[in-house]
Formats: sequence, C-alpha cells, structure tokens
Amino acid sequence: MSKKVKPYKDSDLGKKEQVKQMFDTISDDYDGLNRVISFGIDLKWRRKVVSILKKKAPKNILDIATGTGDLAIAMTATGAEKIIGLDISPGMLEVGKAKISSKSLQDTIEMIVGDSENLPFDDNTFDAITVAFGVRNFENLEKGLSEILRVLKPSGSFVVLETSVPIKTPFKQGYRFYTKYILPTIGKIFSKDRSAYAYLSESASVFPHGEAFNNILGKIGFIGIENKPQTFGVASIYVATK
Ligand SMILES: C[S@@+](CC[C@H](N)C(=O)[O-])C[C@H]1O[C@@H](n2cnc3c(N)ncnc32)[C@H](O)[C@@H]1O
Repeated sequence: MSKKVKPYKDSDLGKKEQVKQMFDTISDDYDGLNRVISFGIDLKWRRKVVSILKKKAPKNILDIATGTGDLAIAMTATGAEKIIGLDISPGMLEVGKAKISSKSLQDTIEMIVGDSENLPFDDNTFDAITVAFGVRNFENLEKGLSEILRVLKPSGSFVVLETSVPIKTPFKQGYRFYTKYILPTIGKIFSKDRSAYAYLSESASVFPHGEAFNNILGKIGFIGIENKPQTFGVASIYVATK
C-alpha cells in the first residue's frame, strides 16, 4: 500500500476532507495551472484516453474525480449518449458546469457531487469508467477501485490516467529536479494554496505506478490489465476490464 500523503500537514482532518478542501480552494486556478505544470501535454494524454475508448463505443461513461470536467468534455468525441462526471469537490464541479454550459453539452454530461469510495449507482451500470489524475487522491484506493469494479458492466472498460515516475536515465533525474524545484516554485507563484502543489508532487512520487499499479488492479479483480507509459513515463494510462 502507498504511503498516505495528505495536503495539509498541520490539519487533523482525514485525507478525503483535506483533498476536498484543497480542490475547492484551487478550483478557479486549476485549469490554467494544469496547462502550465504539464506544458499542455495533459491535453494530449486525455485525447489518447478518448481514442482508446472510442474503439469500444461505450453508450454511458462514468468519469470519476472529474474535477473541472476536461476529460468528460473530451469524451463526448467517443459518441457516448451519457457521461456522468462525479467529484467530491463542489468547487471543481462548478467550474466544470460553466464549461459544459458554454459548450452546450449539458444534455450529454451531468456533473454530480459524490465519493468514489461509495458510488451512488447500481452494480453493472456503466460501459466505461475513467479516472484522470484522481486515483492517487483517493483516501482508500482499494475501496475506490472495488466500487468502480462493482458499477462497471461485465466486459466494460476501465481507463486510468495518472502521473507516474520515469525509471530511465536521464528522465528519472530530470523528473526529480522538476518535481523538487520547478513544480513547487510554479505553485508558489500561481496558486493561492502553496501546500497544494507540494502535495501534488509528493503524492505523485510515492504513488504506485507501472507494474505495482497493475498488481493492485489485478488484486481488486480487474482483468486484461495493460499499462501504457506516456511522455518518458511521467504519466501512464492503465486499461483494464471486468
Ligand atoms: C487532480 S484533480 C483531477 C481532475 C480531472 N480528472 C482532470 O483530469 O483534470 C483530482 C480530483 O479528484 C477529486 N477526488 C479526490 N478524491 C475523490 C473521491 N474520493 N471521490 C471523488 N472525487 C475525488 C478531487 O476533488 C479533484 O477534483
């Protein structure tokens, strides 16, 4: 199990409450900061997730930890009739809802407040489920993944996009320098919440990735698990089925 990293070291709140508070605080800055810290490459990774799912032609998709809805919006290109974006942070969802209305996508995408560890859906509901940069924020990773398996239809697709850590030289060293010095500086300059960016890089460095995350998916009961490292391994896309 990964070490539990929380956003606020001096707070007595549990990880889930702290994560909710942190994303509510940074919601207005989140999209801009995302582009800056990933040099815009996050858009390319999201498009890759869309192209994987498009081949499976899902009718309904659940995007967990949807945040400000970038992946949910991008996934309208799969042709899905219904996409539900779920998140514990009402602040992130408000930003997402405004983007959805401005694109007139409210008939396709519904945004709801909810917890990945207690999903408000029946067993075997969704053709596909996605989580982008969300799993490492779950308080109880295994509980969240078990809930996802429960509400996914048999043969349905589960696609995770998450940060990972490059294992090859010189990317490994470059990544360490970036997360240790550059990322916290960007956070200090641009964000209202400095500890948020320290948390984002610290949580990324300890979260299980590659084979370790594949093994967790297998332990939960997913099958057909594949991981696809992106951009020298700074992110990975995991594809699994039920
Ligand atoms: C880094 S953001 C990612 C947002 C979006 N998926 C994206 O790709 O930009 C992580 C999101 O996970 C949400 N989150 C964390 N724990 C959660 C949980 N237990 N249930 C639902 N959402 C959660 C946070 O509120 C936050 O919006």
